[in-house]
Amino acid sequence: MIKIRIPATSANLGAGFDSLGLAVTLYNTVYMEQAEQTDIASLDEKPVPAGKDNLIYLSAQKVYDLCGKPLSGLHIRQVNRIPMTRGLGSSSACIIAGITGANELLGRPFSPDELVNLAAEIEGHPDNTTPALLGGIVTSVFDGDKVFWVKQELHAGLYFYAIIPNFEMKTEKARSILPKQIDFSDAVYNLSRAALFSSSLLQGKYENLQIAVHDRLHQPYRLSMIPKGREVMEECYHFGAYAAYMSGAGPTIMAIVDEQKQFFGLHMRERLNEMGLQGWHLERLNIDNAGTMVYNEA
Ligand code: HSE
Repeated sequence: MIKIRIPATSANLGAGFDSLGLAVTLYNTVYMEQAEQTDIASLDEKPVPAGKDNLIYLSAQKVYDLCGKPLSGLHIRQVNRIPMTRGLGSSSACIIAGITGANELLGRPFSPDELVNLAAEIEGHPDNTTPALLGGIVTSVFDGDKVFWVKQELHAGLYFYAIIPNFEMKTEKARSILPKQIDFSDAVYNLSRAALFSSSLLQGKYENLQIAVHDRLHQPYRLSMIPKGREVMEECYHFGAYAAYMSGAGPTIMAIVDEQKQFFGLHMRERLNEMGLQGWHLERLNIDNAGTMVYNEA
C-alpha cells in the first residue's frame, strides 16, 4: 500500500494564463495498491466515482499502458480536502495521484520530468499539474509534447487566503466563454504583467503585485460569472492584501497577504457575512515548496 499526498494549486496567478502556478498547503491524500478487482471509495463524506472512470484510476492506467503492463485493478481510498471544481487544482491532484502512484507501484520507470510531461498531456495545460507535482511557484510552457519549466521555492512571510464560493465552476465552461482572438495590445498587457508577477513575488517587491495580477485574457470574462466576485476582490484590497486574483478557472478568489496583517481573515469573514456570502469558505494557506510526497506503508 502506498500513500500519496498532493497539494492544492493556484494557477494563472492573474496574467500568467496556462503558464504560472503555485502549490499551497491544502492536501488530498490517496492510498493505492494493486489488486485483482477495482475498489475505489472515499474516506470522507465527499462522494467519488467508484468505477474505472475515476480520474485517479484513469491516470494510473495510462502509466501501466505506457509501460506495457497489464492492470487488473486498483484499490484506491481518497481523502479530498481540496474542494472540487473551485479553481484549486482538484483534477490535477487526481492526475498526479494516479501517475505518481502507478509509477511507484511499477518501480519508478518514469523520471519526474517525464511525469511532468505526462500530467500536462492528460490535463491539457501544465499550470496546475506541474506545481502539484513539484511544489513551489512554477513557470511552465507546454509545447504539446514536453513541458519546459522552472520551479522556485518561496520562503516569504505571506499568506495565501483562498476565498472559496459555495458553487462550482467547471473548467470547460470557464474556458468556453473566453475570446478566440485578442488585440495585440492586450497580449502585451498580459505578458508584461505575468513576467512582473513572478519576479516581484520572488524578489519581495510585493507593491508590484496589485498591478501584476491584472489581466485581459480571462478574469474579466470569468469574474462576470461570479456574483459579488468583483466586490470581494475590492474588499481584499480594502483590508490590505497585496493582490487578489481569480485562482485558476475560478470561482475561488485568492488574496496574497502579508503575515503581519493578522486580522485579514477575521475582517474578510465578517465582510463576507455582511455581503450575504455566509456559504463562502475562507482558508488561510502557505506556499507548499515540497510538492507531492509518496510514502510506502506497510
Ligand atoms: N489555466 C487554466 C484555466 C487553469 O484558466 O483555464 C484551470 O485548469
